[in-house]
Amino acid sequence: MADPQETLSRRVQSALAAAFGAEYAETDPVIRPSQFADFQANAALALAKRLRRKPREVATEIVAHLDADDVVGEIEISGPGFVNLTLRDDWIAREAQSLLTDPRLGVPEQPRQNIPLDYSAPNVAKEMHVGHLRTTVVGDALARTLEFLGHNVIRQNHIGDWGTPFGMLIEHLLEVGEDSPEAELLESDPNAFYQAARAKFDSSEEFADRSRRRVVALQSGDPATLKLWHELVDLSKVYFNRVYDTLDVTLTDEHLAGESMYNDQLAAICAELEERGIAQISDGALCVFLDGFTGREGKPVPLIIRKSDGGYGYGTTDLATIRYRVEHLKADRILYVIGAPQHLHLQMIYETARTAGWLPDGVTPVHVQIGNVLGTDGKILRTRSGESIRLMALLDEAVERATKVVAQTRPDLDDATRAAIARDVGIGAVKYADLSVSHDSEYVFDFDRMLALSGNTGPYLQYAAARIRSIFRKGGLSPDQAAGPVVVTEAAERTLALTLLGFGPVVAQVGDTLEPHRLCGYLFGLAQAFTAFYENCPVLKAEDPAVRESRLALTAATLRVLVQGLALLGVRAPEQM
Ligand code: ARG
Repeated sequence: MADPQETLSRRVQSALAAAFGAEYAETDPVIRPSQFADFQANAALALAKRLRRKPREVATEIVAHLDADDVVGEIEISGPGFVNLTLRDDWIAREAQSLLTDPRLGVPEQPRQNIPLDYSAPNVAKEMHVGHLRTTVVGDALARTLEFLGHNVIRQNHIGDWGTPFGMLIEHLLEVGEDSPEAELLESDPNAFYQAARAKFDSSEEFADRSRRRVVALQSGDPATLKLWHELVDLSKVYFNRVYDTLDVTLTDEHLAGESMYNDQLAAICAELEERGIAQISDGALCVFLDGFTGREGKPVPLIIRKSDGGYGYGTTDLATIRYRVEHLKADRILYVIGAPQHLHLQMIYETARTAGWLPDGVTPVHVQIGNVLGTDGKILRTRSGESIRLMALLDEAVERATKVVAQTRPDLDDATRAAIARDVGIGAVKYADLSVSHDSEYVFDFDRMLALSGNTGPYLQYAAARIRSIFRKGGLSPDQAAGPVVVTEAAERTLALTLLGFGPVVAQVGDTLEPHRLCGYLFGLAQAFTAFYENCPVLKAEDPAVRESRLALTAATLRVLVQGLALLGVRAPEQM
């Protein structure tokens, strides 16, 4: 299947070369969607200056040399020199038809890159919050999409599993016992465990002392302490995995690459940076000062890599991380799906790593910035009593609400089927809501809106796919049997077919821009194009058998693209709804 915009680009480039000489064969023909035709080529305007000719004349030359009769039906020069291009109906039909036999649905295979992808990264013995939810969902959609494009995605779940709080957490675990109900909280309500440890730490000097000694024992690798630490991490893993399972994300234990993994490298990193004069002691702390990173009153902001008490910071670990990803994972691109407020931190990490020679020019680090999730009151999402929201409770509520929706729409189904649908719809709604707005903007977590059956929502798209499946069920047909040939006559057929051809390009774009919301917008547009088609063009009831075959083929292609698109986003498409 061919991408219309690509195809036109190549044809117009050939025309440029034929008209103005071979040196124009690489010139950007500036093909854009048009209000007046399918596309317009805007190259004439920029070229006119270079050629010292009038834009309209240049446009006329382009048209005269354009060899595209098999693709383009109508050409028209408009305005100062736009070339309006309308695709041939039979070309669109043939390309849409070829989707049915293309397992990639027009998605190009990109040159394979190694892409370590840092996402999710919750903290041991702490509840995952909506911020973690969003990096998990966005990161997972990127992982799936980049893999489909042919890349080697190396998931790196950089969990917070090291640091001074572990002294108090281990002491608490030791006191309550590994098999106690209190320890079980780590799997169900980790904040409760953390707070219990914290309360002891704050109220008992003796416990606090023990905790501090425990940190030292942990850092010096005391076997008994390490065993307890492992216990703590293992219990937390049960919790993480339950969330991942509920969310249907692809992260498993093999993707864990937490802070502790880099522990034995931190001293050497500090020593090397200090020896090479990249880091200096300032107020007792070892700091890297970088040009261009200044705070209020032009004061330089340091990246602290060793605190004055000798402890290492979050930044030191991230330096180790970047070095590991370049050296061992052979990264071409390193993606960090992390909260937007950490942007400055990451810039300083990149800059330091570059200075140290750990981040070569050929490797691009990218911060996929995650915006805050707000409540309907416009403030950071919290429970009514002001506590932070438990993620599992939030997901349970989504499924519960979806259960009510399904009970209304499908009273005919048995309970188990309805429950399975409600799960897909509730979780799908939450995930899609996270994905459909650009990842760096804030967004309002609103159950009513995300569960709506209309608008750019997960349930709307799931419903569109389910409705198509029911068309085939009603006709006693399988979507796999629909083979066309596709013929395009009605306007709604044409729009739908042309929209289908946009899938490959938009998926490639998501791979380049790392913006899954573009795919959401595309799928929403596709579902709308299908609705318009279905309202205007009878499918099963089409009288002419050839028209019926063609429309069934378009319907089947729409289903495949919807289901594949949702799969790339990590959203399930239930068989019925
Ligand atoms: N654990 C951190 C948090 O919960 C996020 C870590 C992000 N990843 C990283 N490489 N810094 O805020």
